[in-house]
Amino acid sequence: MFMRFDIFTLFPAIFESPLQESILKRAIESGLIDVRLHNIRDYATDKHHITDDYPYGGGGGMVMKPEPIFAAVETVLGMANARFAWRMQNAENGVRSAIQKRQSEIPIILLTPQGRVFDQGLARELAQHDRIALICGRYEGVDERVREHLVTDEISIGDYVLTGGELAALIVIDAVARLRPGALGDPGATADDSHAEGLLEYPHYTRPPEFRGWRVPDVLLSGHHAEIDRWRRQQSLRRTARRRPDLLSRIFLTPEERQWIERLADESGAT
Ligand code: 6GU
Repeated sequence: MFMRFDIFTLFPAIFESPLQESILKRAIESGLIDVRLHNIRDYATDKHHITDDYPYGGGGGMVMKPEPIFAAVETVLGMANARFAWRMQNAENGVRSAIQKRQSEIPIILLTPQGRVFDQGLARELAQHDRIALICGRYEGVDERVREHLVTDEISIGDYVLTGGELAALIVIDAVARLRPGALGDPGATADDSHAEGLLEYPHYTRPPEFRGWRVPDVLLSGHHAEIDRWRRQQSLRRTARRRPDLLSRIFLTPEERQWIERLADESGAT
C-alpha cells in the first residue's frame, strides 16, 4: 500500500531536487510513496493572489492569511474527508473544531517551531498512516485560526528557527518514507538504525582491513557472529552513554548492561 503526502507550500520548487535523488526518488518511481505539491498561492482568489498580510495589533513581519490555506486543504482533502466534511456542516459552531479533530482521518500537520518535537517515535506513528497532509508555514507565522480549526497536529524539527516549514517537511517525508515497507532494499534495514531502539548505532567499517595503519577491530573480521553482536551492543551502549546520556533513561536495559555502563563512567576517552 502506498503512502500519500499532500504538501501545502508557497515554494513548491524547494521540494523538487530532494525528491529526485536516491531512495526517495526510487520510492516515488516504484509507487511506494506519492508526494503531491500544492501551491497555496493558487488558492488565493484575489487579483494579486495575496497570501500574507500585516498582523493585527502591529509588530513586525507578515502573517499567512487563513483563506488560501483553508481553501487549499479543503479542496485537496475534500473528497477524502467527505464524511468529516458532512459532520462539519451539520455541527454547531461551538463544537466544530472538536469534531474536526476527532473525525479527520488524515493528519493535517502544520510545520512550526511551536510544534511537538519530531523524533523517531513520531516518524513511526506517522508511517502508520496511508496519507498525511503537511502545511508549511512561512513569514512570521500563520493566522491562529489555521491552528485552531484546520490542523490536527503541529510538528517542529528542533529548537532553532528556520525561514519556513519546507525543509522541515522534507525531513518528515524522508524519515517517514524510509520506514515504509519496501522503501529500503533490506526489510531489516531500519532495525539497527540509531534511535531505532533508543540507542545510537555502533561503528561501521568496510574494506580495506587496514587503512593508513588504522585497523578494523579484529572481532569484526573473526566471523564469530555472537561475539560481533555483543561487541556492537557494547559499542552502542558506550556511545550513547558518552554522547547522549539523556537517551539511556528512556530505554530498557538489562541489569548487566546498566552495571557495564556504570563501570564505563570511570573509563576515559571519547568514542
Ligand atoms: Cl517546522 N518551521 C520553522 N520555520 N522553523 C523550525 C521548524 C519548523 N522546526 C524547527 N524550526
